Amino acid sequence: MATIKEVAAHANVSSATVSHVINGTRYVSDAVRAQVELAMKELGYRPNALARSLRRGETHTLGLILPDSANPFFAEIGRAIETAAFERGYSVILCNTENDTEKERMYTEVLENKQVDGMIFVASGDHRETLSQIAQKGLPLVVVDRDMGSLELDTVTTDNHHGGLIATQHLLSLGHRIIACITGPSNITPSAERVTGYRAALQQAGILVDESLVVRGDFHAPSGYEGAMQLFQRSPRPTAIFVCNDMMSIGVIRAASQLGLRIPEDVSIASFDNIELASYTTPPLTSVAQPKQEIGQMAITLLLERMQNASLPPRRNILPTRLVIRESTRRPS
Ligand code: RIB
Repeated sequence: MATIKEVAAHANVSSATVSHVINGTRYVSDAVRAQVELAMKELGYRPNALARSLRRGETHTLGLILPDSANPFFAEIGRAIETAAFERGYSVILCNTENDTEKERMYTEVLENKQVDGMIFVASGDHRETLSQIAQKGLPLVVVDRDMGSLELDTVTTDNHHGGLIATQHLLSLGHRIIACITGPSNITPSAERVTGYRAALQQAGILVDESLVVRGDFHAPSGYEGAMQLFQRSPRPTAIFVCNDMMSIGVIRAASQLGLRIPEDVSIASFDNIELASYTTPPLTSVAQPKQEIGQMAITLLLERMQNASLPPRRNILPTRLVIRESTRRPS
């Protein structure tokens, strides 16, 4: 491939001028810039991005660590973050950890070695150690979705407690009284907060929480299926279920179908995340919407501000949740 020296000779300018055109380090007239760019095109010259970034001390690349890129919620969050980053001139390296702590640690090292300018981290659980190591190295970092309360980090989460509360209140307002809950992983703060919202709604309605109606899931569809099969065997059967995410609700729909139970006639489902698929299940899901676009925009805004000013105090943003009512809920038969 052509060198800067050959481009300079071809354009009849100095090598320094070619370097200024490539790196934007000094004013170059439009005419000279056009001469140099034509020479680069004719010689097939491509600037060495890594060399340029090392010179500048920035790569205009951000790292994004997600725990489960197969879950549409994270796919939509990843899309929102990438869109917001691209609008601001940054590319994104996405790392999927499959909720594996060791992969999470390995990927943070990979991203550091690739000299990313900043990192957005959706932790798969309680990884304060990994996060504090990143922060101590001075790499700008924003935590999304899973709050690490004890760490002084920029954070973007949603009001999960409110979401669990309004979903359960919606079922109560329809007349349901035997309302079950399928939770997410117990070590994930968003799930725990949704369940406290569910409990608060029942208590406010004067209903004692029956712990046998609260079954553990893991945010994946099979656990929703298994949890629903367990709940549907009960007598009396719950007339409604609050499910802590849409992927588990898809498992619940499958279980109901296999048992010949109709949704919502025989059992209502109120869900969480409001992924795009929630409008296309049969029936479409009533679901608590997480503002995924805003989460992505806010995460990038906080990260770029942190990259500009490392001494900013930590910002903790909790975005609102709202209930989207569709056909999976109605009054009990
Ligand atoms: O569906 C995945 C879940 O994990 C979402 O509810 C999100 O909030 C994350 O915590």
